[in-house]
Amino acid sequence: MFSADDYRTIILEEARSPQHYGLLKPADLDHEEHNPLCGDQVHLTLRIDPDGIIREVGWEGAGCAISQASTSFFSDHLLGMSLDDARRITREDVLDLIGLPLMPNRQRCALLPLKALLLGLRDTHGWEQVEDSIE
Ligand code: FES
Repeated sequence: MFSADDYRTIILEEARSPQHYGLLKPADLDHEEHNPLCGDQVHLTLRIDPDGIIREVGWEGAGCAISQASTSFFSDHLLGMSLDDARRITREDVLDLIGLPLMPNRQRCALLPLKALLLGLRDTHGWEQVEDSIE
């Protein structure tokens, strides 16, 4: 079982060596979002096949270790997923990827890639529901 210190180390290492870093051009989804509390940002790009399956993920961002590590984990989580399933990703799903209990303001850091996905899919209502669930 991992300790909180282990998770902190994992987060720092993931942020230092992120997965799927670099934007896809062209991309089927190309959207950038920021955290209004700090200005940190995540730019997410996806390639989606005709069956609606996410086949490639690329991203770039700037910000705290949690937002960047979360986007790295999130990008790998999206690979091979259908867009329908991606729309149903919850706040808890993303926080599980991080594996460490987070205070609300840090949850906003971790949820930045989900914000980029949902608002990139024009799912404003879905993102508002995620935001309302932050505790
Ligand atoms: Fe800005 Fe974490 S402090 S996203």
